[in-house]
Amino acid sequence: MKGVILAGGTGSRLYPLTKVTNKHLLPIYDKPMIYYPIETLISAGIKDIMIVSGRGHAGHFLELLGSGADHGVHFTYEIQEKAGGIAQALSLSEDFVDGDRITVILGDNIFQDNIKKDVVNFNSGAKIFLKEVPDAHRFGVAELKGEKVIGIEEKPKEPKTNFAVTGIYIYDSDVFDAIKTLKPSGRGELEITDVNNYYINKGEMEYGVLKGFWSDAGTFESLLRASILVQQHASIINSQNEIDKSVNM
Ligand code: DAU
Repeated sequence: MKGVILAGGTGSRLYPLTKVTNKHLLPIYDKPMIYYPIETLISAGIKDIMIVSGRGHAGHFLELLGSGADHGVHFTYEIQEKAGGIAQALSLSEDFVDGDRITVILGDNIFQDNIKKDVVNFNSGAKIFLKEVPDAHRFGVAELKGEKVIGIEEKPKEPKTNFAVTGIYIYDSDVFDAIKTLKPSGRGELEITDVNNYYINKGEMEYGVLKGFWSDAGTFESLLRASILVQQHASIINSQNEIDKSVNM
């Protein structure tokens, strides 16, 4: 299983924070944003990771992350020349993936869950991870029927459910053929939602529901929210460590 982190795009919703740096290098609580998706992949047991970033700040990713030795993994870098959409960014990893299976994570998504079991047990065409949210219209939204996901709508005005499609996806190597069939959406991008609907239409899509917190961090509100969630989680862990220490004394 290979890992791909998509950290291209323009970050225009965070302007002027993103005027002279890249969104994924901004802090979430005490670490650069990109550390979180890296940690999510590593905790899923994935060690061979490609980072796709846009032009302009690619050198800063290299400077920050290097070969991956600091994290005990191996990083490969790719440049997305223009923000052509998440699926277009993913298409750039085809040679790197080289027929393997992949876990793809959006560089601005922060997850508490560990998806190692899902990665190890993956044996369908694709798997997505859902989370019930109060503001589903901001995301891809899944329509469910019994145990099946029967369709996904990208940022619907009137969501059919509250289940947002989060920014972590597992695919078999057919994903690159799927991307080749796509046409740009209304916003001029190749959409990851269209890739997911391709697998749903083939009857090869599975889904899981996340238990822990999840946040994107692409707007001022969600950037702040993600920092607060991480900080609260860190303080729970720290106080649990204090309790463990005093019990063991
Ligand atoms: O956060 C989850 C949501 O992410 C999903 O529910 C949606 O289905 C999915 O389309 C996406 O929605 P956004 O519109 O919020 O995605 P955004 O354009 O903010 O891009 C998210 C990340 O994807 C961004 O941090 C970097 C990467 N990306 C995005 C674009 C447009 C690229 O690498 N290249 C790109 O061209």
